[in-house]
Amino acid sequence: MIDHSVYMIKAALIAGARPNFIKIAALEKAFRANGSFKNTLIHTGQHYDAKMSDIFFRQLGMPEPDMFLGIGSGSHATQTARVMTETEKVFLADRPDVVVVVGDVNSTVATALTAKKMGIPVVHVEAGLRSFDEGMPEEINRIVTDAISDMLYVSEPSGMVHLKNEGVADSKMEFVGNVMIDSLRQFEDKARETHYAESIGLSKGRYFLITAHRPAMVDNDAQLALFGNALLGLSELGDVVFPIHPRTSKRLESIGLGEALASNPRIRLTEPIGYLEFMNLMMNVGLIVTDSGGIQEESTALLVPCATVRPNTERPVTIDEGTNVLMSLDVEAIVAAGQKALSGGWKKGAIPELWDGKASERIASHLVGFLS
Ligand code: UD1
Ligand code: UDP
Repeated sequence: MIDHSVYMIKAALIAGARPNFIKIAALEKAFRANGSFKNTLIHTGQHYDAKMSDIFFRQLGMPEPDMFLGIGSGSHATQTARVMTETEKVFLADRPDVVVVVGDVNSTVATALTAKKMGIPVVHVEAGLRSFDEGMPEEINRIVTDAISDMLYVSEPSGMVHLKNEGVADSKMEFVGNVMIDSLRQFEDKARETHYAESIGLSKGRYFLITAHRPAMVDNDAQLALFGNALLGLSELGDVVFPIHPRTSKRLESIGLGEALASNPRIRLTEPIGYLEFMNLMMNVGLIVTDSGGIQEESTALLVPCATVRPNTERPVTIDEGTNVLMSLDVEAIVAAGQKALSGGWKKGAIPELWDGKASERIASHLVGFLS
């Protein structure tokens, strides 16, 4: 039993990959503001390029990580094992009272496993999401992390239903809202003030913003070629901006598609871009075409059109209530979606319950009670 009148809860906050940084930024601030926590921010190094990592720390006003584990890239087993080995050393040297993991990347499941086996309470933020597609590495990470976590914080109603169906006790789960949207709300004005879209000559509501990085799409030559054709089709309707994930960049080169896209004057291929600039592109977009998890949520929160090119989503509230639709990799259908969005015919959407910018605050206060 921890007496919080004299004791600060030692919380290890784990971030490894781009979406983690955005979620942990909100949690780190809320834990600090709560006053009961002593944070240790641990960066596993799963993502390490400045444009995939450092820029988020800078733009989101995060402190430097207390520890950088330098895990780097590798196969799933290698990456997961390295995170386990390194986090174990850290937790042995200075045992935290609680380990907080977010999302569904390899760093999430690996750290949860390490901590759980050391008897350290594990908290999973963004728990309960399910695509029911075990071909997605993230689905396996979600299932395993949820199964071993001591407290599960849930971002949308489907998460509560899934956890209940999996037999999780009511006392171990709490619907708190979405920490990704906490960061969005905190930085929305700053992002607007960058005027980034305008500064690179894009007209409001007239361009397409593209991202792709799921192995199911980009590691498959035929799928990636179809996606490239869809972008060529969209370029007949408006400018296309495509900040390219490093996984995808290598793949576009290897199938020779990068050049075909780059030679089109209406397609702008860029490196990954900063959070504030990316949010500005989202705010002013005609249509987003993506396979990202976080972008489905951010587009719903910003009430802008989003077409998710995937057969399923673990974030169904963005479809049922938000501005997101699922699409197959059908070039004509994607171009038709582009036409619909540019003509103002896209569904309007509504902001899901508790996506109000205060999820991290709710987690911090609930967790103090939970740990006592
Ligand atoms: C990872 C997550 C995925 C998440 C995505 C967010 C897993 C299993 N996957 O996918 O859930 O949606 O992050 O972006 O955890 N690379 C670089 N520089 C970097 C990082 C990666 O060049 O800073 C390249 C490397 O060649 C690496 C490849 O990208 O092999 C893939 O990186 P990895 O972290 O393994 O998976 P992601 O596809 O980024
Ligand atoms: N993002 C960004 N710059 C980019 C692409 C993405 O700032 O060039 C942000 C955006 O907020 C997105 C988040 O990074 O929601 C997570 O990105 P990603 O799609 O890589 O991860 P996922 O959410 O699919 O796991």
